[in-house]
Amino acid sequence: MSKTIIISNRLPLQISLNHGKLDVTPSVGGLATGLKSFHRDGDSIWIGWSGLTTEEIPANLIDEVSQKAKEQACIAVNFTEKEMEGFYYGFSNRSIWPLFHYFMEFTEWETWHWETYKSVNQKYADAILEHYKEGDKIWVHDYQLLLVPNMVREQRPNAIIGFFNHIPFPSYEVFRTMPWREEILNGLLGADLIGFHTYDYERHFLSSVSRILRHQVNFNEVSLPDRMVKVDSFPMGIDYNKFEQAALNHFENTLESQSDLQQRLDHHRKGAPGAKLILSIDRLDYTKGIAHRIRAFEYFLEKYPQYIEKIRLVMLAVPSRSEVPQYQLLKKEIDALVGRINGKFATVSWTPIWYFYRSMPFTNLIDLYASCDIALLTPIRDGMNLVAKEYIASRKDQTGVLILSEMTGAAQEMNEAILINPNNFEQIADAINQAIEMPVEEQISRNKLLQKRLKRYDVEKWANDFMKSLSKTQENRQSNKAT
Ligand code: ADP
Ligand code: G6P
Repeated sequence: MSKTIIISNRLPLQISLNHGKLDVTPSVGGLATGLKSFHRDGDSIWIGWSGLTTEEIPANLIDEVSQKAKEQACIAVNFTEKEMEGFYYGFSNRSIWPLFHYFMEFTEWETWHWETYKSVNQKYADAILEHYKEGDKIWVHDYQLLLVPNMVREQRPNAIIGFFNHIPFPSYEVFRTMPWREEILNGLLGADLIGFHTYDYERHFLSSVSRILRHQVNFNEVSLPDRMVKVDSFPMGIDYNKFEQAALNHFENTLESQSDLQQRLDHHRKGAPGAKLILSIDRLDYTKGIAHRIRAFEYFLEKYPQYIEKIRLVMLAVPSRSEVPQYQLLKKEIDALVGRINGKFATVSWTPIWYFYRSMPFTNLIDLYASCDIALLTPIRDGMNLVAKEYIASRKDQTGVLILSEMTGAAQEMNEAILINPNNFEQIADAINQAIEMPVEEQISRNKLLQKRLKRYDVEKWANDFMKSLSKTQENRQSNKAT
C-alpha cells in the first residue's frame, strides 16, 4: 500500500538526554504542532532530526532513539555537531530565515554553511530514498530543505513530490541578494507542487523564478523543458476540534483540578474591578516583534494610566535557536525591558508584565488562551502565526479580542481581529484601549465569524487540499504522456 512520506527538519517529537536517560517532549513551532494531526490520522511516516547530535547520543542509546521515534511512526535522522552548526545554526537560521523575513541586515553568507546545507539536504534526500516505494507521495517541508525536492527527483524522475514552505517567500528584490539563488530555485522546482501560506508569497516566488531562471510562468504553473510545476497557496489551519474540546474541558475544571497557573490568572482577574489579562505567546524570535510589543505596552501604560493595577501582560516566550547571536541579544534585550518596565510601573500589589521563558504543557497553554481577555500578537514578519488561530479556537464563550499584526499570514484570513502595524506604537496602544473597551456583543460577533472560518479551514482541510492538488499534478502528468 502506498504511503505519504513527510519530511521536515524537526520531528513532532524532541528527544533529549536527562541524566543518561532519553526524554521525549513535543516539539514547539507551527510546522510540528500543525502537521502532527495529519500524521496522527493518516497513513504516513515522518522523517526528521531527532533533536540530539551524533556526539550526544551514548552508544548504548542509539537503538532507543530510533525506537522512541518509531513509536510515533517517525524516522530519526542524526547529525554531527559540525553539521548542525553549518546547516541548522548556519545556513538555515543565519541566512535563509533572516532573508525570507526581510531582516537583510542579519544575513550571513558563509560558503561552508552553504556546503553543509547542501550535504545535509542530500542526507535527508537519501533517507527518503531509503524508505520510498513507487506510488508513495513525498511531502517535503520548509526552508531547511529547499534542495531536497530536486535531489529526490534526480534519483526518481517519476516520484510524486510536494513541497510546502511554512515561512514567507520574500519579494524578488530581496531574494535576488542570495548568492546561491539559482540553486535554491532549481532545488524547489524538483517538486510537482509548491505550496505557500498566502498568494503574496506565491507571487514573489513565481516572480523570482521567471526573472532569475527565465522559465516561462503561466498563471500559477512553471514550464520546465520536461514537465510542469504547479505553485499555489494553502493557508495552514489548526486542529480546531482539539482546541475547542480542550477549552470545553477547561471550563469543566473544578477548583481542586485547576492548575496553579489557572489559580493565579483568576486571582489577578478578581483582584480589581475591570482587571484584565493580555496574552502574548511566541518562540523567542526577532521576527515576532516581542521587544516592540513590550515598548508599545509601556507606551500604553503611559498614555492610559487609568489601567495601572488593572491590566497585566502575560508574556510567554519559548527558547529558540539560542546559539544564534541575534537570539542571544534579543533574550538580553527582553530581560532588560521587562525588568525596566516592571521596575518603573509596579506597585505593592501589581506587576505589569508576567514573563515566562519556557515551553509550557498543552493544558497550561489552554489555561492561558481561555483566561486572557486579549491576545496581543505583533510579529514584524510571520509566515502564518498559528497562535492567533489557537487563541480564537479556545474562546468557548466567544468573548476575547485578538490584536494581530498585519505582517502575519494569518491576518489575511482574520479581518475581524484588530489589525495593527507592529511599528506603530500609538496604534498598538490605542488598539489595546479599544480591546479593553470593546462591548461583549461586538467581541462575540467578531469571534463567531472567525471561529466559523477556522473550523471550516482547519489543518485537516489544509493537508487534504494540498494532497488532492498534488495527486492532480500526477494525473495531469500521466494524461500529458498519453497524448
Ligand atoms: P512559529 O511556527 O514561528 O513558532 P506559530 O505561531 O505558527 O509560530 O506556531 C507556534 C506553535 O508553538 C503554536 O502551535 C503554539 O501553541 C506553540 N507554542 C508557542 N509557544 C509555546 C510555549 N511556550 N509552550 C508550548 N507551546 C508553545
Ligand atoms: C517555524 C519554522 C519551522 C521550525 C519552527 C521551530 O515554525 O517554520 O520549520 O521547526 O519554527 O523552530 P526550530 O528552529 O526550533 O525548529
